[in-house]
This record gives sequence, C-alpha cells and structure tokens, in this order.
Amino acid sequence: MKLVRTAAELRAELDPARRDGRAIGLVPTMGALHAGHLSLLDAARERCDVVVMSLFVNPTQFGPGEDIDAYPRDEARDLELAAAHGVDLVYAPDPAEVYPAGFATAVEVSGSLTRVLDGDPGRRGSEHFRGVTTVVAKLFNAVGPRIAFFGQKDAQQAIVLRRMVRDLEFPIEIEVMPTVRAADGLALSSRNAYLDDRDRRRAAALSRALGAVERAVAAGATSVAEALAAGRAELEAEGIEPEYLEARDTDGLDPVQSFNGRPVLVAVAARVGPARLIDNVVIGGADGRVPPTE
Ligand code: PAF
Repeated sequence: MKLVRTAAELRAELDPARRDGRAIGLVPTMGALHAGHLSLLDAARERCDVVVMSLFVNPTQFGPGEDIDAYPRDEARDLELAAAHGVDLVYAPDPAEVYPAGFATAVEVSGSLTRVLDGDPGRRGSEHFRGVTTVVAKLFNAVGPRIAFFGQKDAQQAIVLRRMVRDLEFPIEIEVMPTVRAADGLALSSRNAYLDDRDRRRAAALSRALGAVERAVAAGATSVAEALAAGRAELEAEGIEPEYLEARDTDGLDPVQSFNGRPVLVAVAARVGPARLIDNVVIGGADGRVPPTE
C-alpha cells in the first residue's frame, strides 16, 4: 500500500491503471476508521481492480462551533487498517493541498435536497453539503474512479452526491453500502468516540426509535404522524429530544404524509451528551438503502 500527500502524486500513481482501463474504486473518508468504513473498503476491493482511500478531515464541511478540532484522528491506525483491507493507495493531503491560498470555487447542489434535515439553516446548514460536494468533486477529478463507495448512515449525503454526479455528468457509480451497527443497534460512527458509558447506552435509542417506526408501519400504520410518534416515544424514554425525526421521499427529500409502498427515508438526528448523532432507515425500498437516482 502506498501513501501520497499531493494530487499530483495521486494522479501519477493512478495514470497506468487509467491507461490500462482498470476499474478504480474510491472510498472517501475522514479517518477514524470503524467497521462501517471497513465494509466500504471490502466492497471496493471486491468490485474494483485498484482501491483508493482518501483520508482528509475536510474543514469546509464543518460549521463554526462544530467539532473539527475534537474530531478523532489516528492516521497510523487508519493506515494499518486500510492495508489490512486491501487498499492500494491512500491519499492523505494537508488542508493547504486541497484548499491552497486563493481557493475560491465551490460545488453546490442547490434546492431543498441540501436545505432540509441536516441542511436546515438551524442545524448544519446547506454550507455543510457545499463543503462535502466541493471536496468530493475534487476527489472525483483527481482519482477518476469508476465506483465511489459511501455509507447509508449518511443517506442525505449519498442522495446529494448522486444528484451532483447526475447533474455534472461524472461517469461514476455511487455505491451506497448498508449501515453497520453495534450489537445494540447503534449505527457505527467516528463520533461515537465522544460518548461516555451512560451516553453510549442512551444512544442506542436512536436505532430503537427507527425500529419502532418500522414496526408501526409493518403493523399497518400508514400515517406518518402515527408511526413517528412510536419512534419519538423511544427517544423520550431516554430523555433524548431529537433535532429531527422525519419521513421524506428518497428522490427530492420532500416530506411525505403516508407510507404507501414507495421508498420513504425516515431520518433522525439528536444530540446525546457531547455527540451529535444521525441515523436512518428506508421503509418500502428494495433493500433498505437509498435507491439510485431516477
Ligand atoms: O462521509 C464522510 O466521511 C465525509 O463527508 C466525506 C464523504 C469523506 C467528505 O469529506
């Protein structure tokens, strides 16, 4: 496994693979790898000839007052795990390499996709997604992957990135892999590292809430309000006030009023102790993941 720090080195390393028409897979990460990331690396290894992992805590997707300074970092451990999971090339640039002095360009998916849920101005805001799409567009340009792998846990991010790929005609498939969960259901996240034992136990209420919504729908509830109330009760039992617990369609992220067989994204975000956590399920979809853009 090779480690490079500049986009020029990255391109030079990948030129032969590109010339030979070999399939390059990209797994973009911010490091602090957990089993969710490893499942993306394994999927990339299985489907692609060359596996590239990026490791970059992207400053432009963190708002003022967010946790960029506290964000867990352990490059040596991440490199060991990447090597053990068959990564060929790691791109771990400094912020000045990605955003040199005078950097003035942004890639933005406009409209409601980036303004609801996490993009709501009272939450992370659409600036968060602008930071994500800008850095991912740069990675796509530098790596030229055939397939890029993302996690279902960040469902809104995956939907936004699929829209960017469609609109800008990147010849790239976005593969969304299932959320990896701890035994009690908690979705794995680098931010779980912020939780003490008590908050770690409470945090499992997010997935229990989503499970309660799923069970309510399976038991015949078609009204979103009724199903979400079952989820809200699970959160209340742990004293968790969600930032949101909402049901939206998986194309435009428009609110839905009923479960009628079409895929519906039920997404939750809540602060548990010092950590802001997100999770979701897709109800009525083929495989529990956000379906490909139509
Ligand atoms: O999901 C993440 O870890 C980040 O948002 C990503 C896609 C690596 C962009 O910085």
